[in-house]
Amino acid sequence: MTFDYKIADLGLHEAGRHQIRLAEHEMPGLMALRAEYGDAQPLKGARIAGSLHMTVQTAVLIETLVALGAEVRWASCNIFSTQDEAAAAVVVGPEGTAEEPQGVPVFAWKNESLEDYWWTAEQILTWPGAAEDPELGPNMILDDGGDATLLLHKGVEFEAAGAVPATTDADSHEYSIILDRLRKSLAADPQKFTRLSAGILGVTEETTTGVMRLYQLAEAGQLLFPAINVNDSVTKSKFDNKYGIRHSLPDGIMRATDVLIGGKVAVVCGYGDVGKGAAEALRGQGARVVVTEIDPICALQAAMDGYQVARLDSVLEQGDIFVTTTGGKDIIMAADMLRMKDKAIVGNVGHFDNEIDMAGLAAVDGVRKVEIKPQVHEWVFDGGTERERSIIVLSEGRLLNLGNATGHPSFVMSNSFANQTIGQIELFTKAGTGEYRKQVYVLPKLLDEKVARLHLDALGVELTELSAGQADYLGVPVEGPYKSDHYRY
Ligand code: NAI
Repeated sequence: MTFDYKIADLGLHEAGRHQIRLAEHEMPGLMALRAEYGDAQPLKGARIAGSLHMTVQTAVLIETLVALGAEVRWASCNIFSTQDEAAAAVVVGPEGTAEEPQGVPVFAWKNESLEDYWWTAEQILTWPGAAEDPELGPNMILDDGGDATLLLHKGVEFEAAGAVPATTDADSHEYSIILDRLRKSLAADPQKFTRLSAGILGVTEETTTGVMRLYQLAEAGQLLFPAINVNDSVTKSKFDNKYGIRHSLPDGIMRATDVLIGGKVAVVCGYGDVGKGAAEALRGQGARVVVTEIDPICALQAAMDGYQVARLDSVLEQGDIFVTTTGGKDIIMAADMLRMKDKAIVGNVGHFDNEIDMAGLAAVDGVRKVEIKPQVHEWVFDGGTERERSIIVLSEGRLLNLGNATGHPSFVMSNSFANQTIGQIELFTKAGTGEYRKQVYVLPKLLDEKVARLHLDALGVELTELSAGQADYLGVPVEGPYKSDHYRY
């Protein structure tokens, strides 16, 4: 079998396969779905364009989708997050060899440029033969952060307008790259995205930021196909975002800097699901944690959990470690970084790199950027002062838990990816039934509870069963679902 792909080094496939094998053991949810649906092949005929961090855990997801019958093309959703050995193992496949790969076309490597990144995003939508026969194109999207969905929607918008707009000064550097990419595509094939989008049955979206984009599109009446919001399954956001970050945030900081977190002052911007996990992890390492929030409910939660809640401005000179977790923008600006202590560490775990003002930092008078190692940079301010002062920025302001470490561990991603797999089955098998319209949906609670159930045995959890009388008294079925949709966990 020959197929196109672009990764760093196919020779890494054995190392990747060993890690995938160990990850499978830690991903009981995905393995249970393979056992449950392997024979029925519910994804047979699904052609999934996947855009999600190309890690070892994602490799287990990809091979689960394939085991359920899907064809897949994959890219990472972040320029730094690919684990090259995982990408190699997925291309080679469980049965293939480096000489004869039999796996899945992957377009991802660690340390892509932004131009590369948007090229890979287009590759997952560009299936062999689909230009001539749309039946060969993708019919499902699996997205993380919404970039594949964005590219498709922008392509359709510009095709309808007849041209890609000229880049303006107001456009970000990244947006100008997206416009360039679309200009090239539209010149070669003026109806590519319109044709593609007509074939898409739905998208499942992984993260808070991507989900926010989907709701915006749906509210504007511009969403082109049904969407499942995987993030707001309880077994996703209350687990991956919180317990996942509790593991992978300190992992990233430690691998990057080796600094002792104990005793330091750590400032966590945002106390949502990710912020809660971040603050707990840093406190667990002995840091004194300060939280910043704009939402009075989350601010009060942080205070009740025992954290100091302050404005960033009040603690800039005290913090040793600053972490943004807001999903917002312009959280730590260049002027803020200039006031920080010498060797303060600054990093982000929100989805996009606009929480930290990297452009402003690069424009500071006399600033120098020193690479300590890949994804760890010292920004030196001399500014004519007596002694040089510097700060350390991780992963150039992008997701540090994936750039400086390997992201969330397998067990928690098994929960997230079981939701992804179930979401793909839902949208694909129910396409055309009218059950899902061009709106954003969360999975039914019974399926959310199912995902949790699939992970209990591995942890030796003994779940108490309701008696019929108890169930009747509470007004819930013995087999669930147990909570109303507005219950918050
Ligand atoms: P969330 O909405 O639960 O939490 C964000 C919090 O930030 C909110 O409480 C909000 O009030 C607060 N906030 C907003 N603007 C702020 C500001 N200017 N200053 C201080 N606080 C502010 O969202 P969640 O689920 O915690 O996700 C946050 C980000 O992390 C998103 O971009 C999401 O996509 C990303 N994410 C990253 C992961 C990773 O592995 N690095 C994993 C999961 C999510």
